[in-house]
Amino acid sequence: MGPDGGKVVAAKVGEGHDRRSMSEKSPPIVAIDGPAASGKSTVARRVASALGVVFVSSGGMYRAFTWWVLEKNVDPAANAAVVELLGATSFDCGDDCGVGTITVDGQMLAPEAISAERVNRNVSIIAAIPEVRSRLVAEQRAYGQSNGLVMEGRDIGSVVFPDTPYKFYIDASPEVREQRRRAEGITDSIAERDKADSSRAASPLVVPEDAVVVDSSDLTVEEVVDSVLAAIAEQRDQV
Ligand code: CDP
Repeated sequence: MGPDGGKVVAAKVGEGHDRRSMSEKSPPIVAIDGPAASGKSTVARRVASALGVVFVSSGGMYRAFTWWVLEKNVDPAANAAVVELLGATSFDCGDDCGVGTITVDGQMLAPEAISAERVNRNVSIIAAIPEVRSRLVAEQRAYGQSNGLVMEGRDIGSVVFPDTPYKFYIDASPEVREQRRRAEGITDSIAERDKADSSRAASPLVVPEDAVVVDSSDLTVEEVVDSVLAAIAEQRDQV
């Protein structure tokens, strides 16, 4: 399970209020974190589309590399071999960097590949390796140099973009999350992944200190998207 602390924490409010409208300000970097199957990917993609910025699934990148490790018959538990493969691997994706658009060494990964059960089983092992994290975090920050983005994952507000004022943590009860994954027809031990992701030494899943926490258990996707967009608009008025 993800960390507790499900209270809604008001995001920090900047001092100077300026009169430029939201569209005149530089595009925002929006960080959306949360445990497995909390719906953050769907929400993040829709928020990105509403804001007209790039969507990046950081989990998609960890998944893509995990798929590559397995494809190359490297043992996910053999850190040195995994890190060696990482050094020889390139990643890329376009303006919608998620399932179905990420390429590894020029190979486009199909959605079935990236969400395969063997990837689900091994991704948290690969994602706990510090060298893997630092390389992928560097790739993720490079996206932030462009024109704003919405990135979702586990450490986006805490590690990748700690300075952005637009931080969200999307949660849902374990039962609802299990149910959502089952409805997708995907075999995924989300409780195990959450435990591994929350307890690892390198960038564990946490609720960023100044994040707006949304419990999506009883909300529709539209309601979550609307509440995230409303919080961003309010923040932007004040930054
Ligand atoms: O879609 P779901 O929430 O189940 O997972 P995901 O976002 O695709 O992430 C898959 C796995 O990648 C997670 O269980 C983590 O082990 C890892 N991950 C991470 O360590 N850091 C991130 N920023 C994103 C994902």
